[in-house]
Amino acid sequence: MDAIFRDFTDIIMPGMTHWQSPNFFAYFPANSSYPSILAEMLTATLGAQCMKWETSPAAAELEEMMMNWLKEMTGLPADFEGVIQDTASTATLVAILSAREKHAGYRVNSSGFTGSERFRVYCSTETHSSIERAVKIAGLGSGNLIKVGVDGQFRMDPVLLDATIAADIEKGYKPICVVATIGTTGCTAIDPLESVASICSKYGAWLHVDAAFAGSALILPEYRWMIRGIEMADSIVFNPHKWLFTNFDCSAYFVKDRAALLNTLQLVPEYLKTQNQGRVNDYCDWSVPLGRRFRALKLWFVIRHFGIEALQEKLRYHISLATEMEENIRTSHDFEMLAPRTLNLVCFRYHPDGIEDENELNRINESLLQGINKTGKAYLTHTKLNGKYTIRMVIAQTNVERRHVEAALQLIQSSKGKVQS
Ligand SMILES: Cc1ncc(COP(=O)(O)O)c(C=O)c1O
Repeated sequence: MDAIFRDFTDIIMPGMTHWQSPNFFAYFPANSSYPSILAEMLTATLGAQCMKWETSPAAAELEEMMMNWLKEMTGLPADFEGVIQDTASTATLVAILSAREKHAGYRVNSSGFTGSERFRVYCSTETHSSIERAVKIAGLGSGNLIKVGVDGQFRMDPVLLDATIAADIEKGYKPICVVATIGTTGCTAIDPLESVASICSKYGAWLHVDAAFAGSALILPEYRWMIRGIEMADSIVFNPHKWLFTNFDCSAYFVKDRAALLNTLQLVPEYLKTQNQGRVNDYCDWSVPLGRRFRALKLWFVIRHFGIEALQEKLRYHISLATEMEENIRTSHDFEMLAPRTLNLVCFRYHPDGIEDENELNRINESLLQGINKTGKAYLTHTKLNGKYTIRMVIAQTNVERRHVEAALQLIQSSKGKVQS
């Protein structure tokens, strides 16, 4: 073991990207915390496979309880039922499969596609790639995922959505699902849920809400406006593993029509029949894999250890740091914001005086970002917004403090001079 540990330190550690560093501002985080790590150690020690209630009753009961706690903490409708999925990608796949089957009268599951189903799914041009992947896996064809344009703040345009669906229906297509995003990956834009929900009701489409990152902010009452209209949605997913200090992986999926989910996924072969069938939640019927880890334990540890108020305080602190960062960008004469800041993601670029060519600005910012990351002192990533190379700074790491943000800002400022255009 000594030799293994030496090699771990010498060979593995230098090759790791340190997601738990407070200087990590890239992507969206995969946060952890001490209570969560402790629970993960206990989970690993128990080594239980929690596929059915009977294979670990406490795990199934705790999962149900944790989903109810999260529902209350985030103000989700009481009639939604929750299950822990590994990732938001899986949760979205499950939502799209459920929408497909509900619209097909559960016949694609049994007979396959007949060729007459002209199903379509809708999202915005800013939606995460997991939606397209889910549409492909569900056999719908990525050509039947229609990406609707966004407004000046990168939010789905509901008028365009309505018109696109209406035109598709004219052509014989059936709108089976719309995916609205609460907190897009590019810039945390918030799709107008209430308007999108009314359109879904009008056309009978399943409304799935992807709140993978921003959903954690729903524990803050002042951010509940983001899900106004949620009672009209069919499902929602958010990842406590992103911004609720719960180790990867832990994705909370809530669904209104539990029967649609179970009718889509449930299979009970003889060797999996138990005496409690139908009286308890067998969560293997609520997700794609049969085998399941005991993920509820870390949520229990985290929520109990911090308590709701301390979690709220931490999130508000991150948002306040991002507000300060935004202020710094706005007051720097050679930097500019490229999208409104909704929560704790700051989207900006370096814009030196006298350079107006967009390709040149893209090159400069790519070089700036590479320069920053090469120092190894901070890690930021990018996206493109309206074709503009955008540096993203997500201030959400469990242990991030003002001094880390200030150090990153200094690093950004000092890297300017080394930019190669
Ligand atoms: C909006 C959004 N949806 C979905 C995902 C995919 O999340 P996961 O890695 O849990 O599948 C991400 C990842 O960052 C995301 O930002």
